[in-house]
Amino acid sequence: MVNVLVVGSGGREHALSWKLSQSPKVDTVFTAPGNGGTENNVPINVDDLDGLSDFAKKNNCFTVVGPEVPLAAGIVDKFNQNNLKVFGPSQKAAQLESSKIWGKNFMKRNDIPTTRFEIFDDAQKAQDYVQSLDYKVVVKADGLAAGKGVIVCNSNEEAFSAIQTILVKKTFGDAGNHIIVEERLDGIEISYIALSDGKIAIPMATSQDHKRIFDNDKGPNTGGMGAYSPTSIIDDALAKKIQEKIIDKTIQAMKNEGISFKGFLYAGIMISNNEPYVLEYNVRMGDPECQPITMRMDFDLYDYFVASVDGKLSSMPPTSWKHQSAVCVVLASEGYPESYVKNEEISGFDSVSNNTHIFHSGTKKLDGKILSNGGRVLGVTALGDSLESAITNAYTAAEKISWPHKYYRKDIGQKGLTYL
Ligand code: AMP
Ligand code: GLY
Repeated sequence: MVNVLVVGSGGREHALSWKLSQSPKVDTVFTAPGNGGTENNVPINVDDLDGLSDFAKKNNCFTVVGPEVPLAAGIVDKFNQNNLKVFGPSQKAAQLESSKIWGKNFMKRNDIPTTRFEIFDDAQKAQDYVQSLDYKVVVKADGLAAGKGVIVCNSNEEAFSAIQTILVKKTFGDAGNHIIVEERLDGIEISYIALSDGKIAIPMATSQDHKRIFDNDKGPNTGGMGAYSPTSIIDDALAKKIQEKIIDKTIQAMKNEGISFKGFLYAGIMISNNEPYVLEYNVRMGDPECQPITMRMDFDLYDYFVASVDGKLSSMPPTSWKHQSAVCVVLASEGYPESYVKNEEISGFDSVSNNTHIFHSGTKKLDGKILSNGGRVLGVTALGDSLESAITNAYTAAEKISWPHKYYRKDIGQKGLTYL
């Protein structure tokens, strides 16, 4: 038996801990730093690589890294140097996400479908470029900005203001030393997530996130307000195209460049005129996508993580998935993604039925009470025999959970229904 250390504190990490603790091969699952819902929390932050490494060594842990920040900081390289087993990409491989410019140039030189773009560090040159175009743009900070460094622009004026915000006012600090100005695409956005061992990549169940804060995709982008799996937007033909033209090609090209990619590879994809384009790479599971995806897994995730680390995914049996749908409705603090209040007591956990799991993200436990402690607070995730019934089950539970400033979207999954 082995212990597992899950690094992170979001709904994604709660879902991973929950799933891994079901493995007969796993003894204790620790989560660092965890949240009010995870068990065996270890008070070590995700950027304390030495602290995490010491803990993993002392407790004989196989480590699973949830978020991008420690991956970009080189946690996998550090653990490998210390002869510790760790699931996730190396620092070099994590550049696909940690530098959007690196990711874009990688796609360009390897002929992976993405939008047209240019890179700037000079605001005037960026503005002149925008003015010369006859299409709308998206302005992106190069580095990690907690999902906020992307500004989708409706006009040249909005683009100028985005350029000022990132390059001149430095709202995202050094992450905004360089920007990408890229073509804005209209279409349908989906999340395509695969698990790789550096040689092959096996797809996870399909899913779709809901990134905007308000119903009908209005308002600013967030980390994700809800997700469902599977999505019928990705039929077999489209899945094959994405797998071959994007995922397999990425893994092969990384290998050719001497950078083996192990871990979850998540392509944020826009389907435009029936063709998939990569908007961004992430080098980790999506959150909230991870929650409905893990609820549907009918296999031992721990075995696949070990196979990824050992480069042996090709010898694993095919993954099997529950034929049910799963829907995750994120319950957030009113005001998110801007300012919001914390420390409100949450009630209603006991009234949730069997087909539903409440994954925690921004919560903490204090004197036996669960308090809100972040923007995205809970992921209410339900199974159902159809997408429609999973939606009903998730919302039935979501309504039973309460705290004073609870906010959630009322239309999670509806986009999926229109494609059935
Ligand atoms: P990213 O962090 O790069 O995925 O961007 C965040 C969000 O911005 C995406 O999920 C999309 O909704 C939107 N976005 C990014 N790039 C584009 C693009 N080229 N065209 C349209 N929307 C985009
Ligand atoms: N749900 C989007 C992300 O994890 O980046």
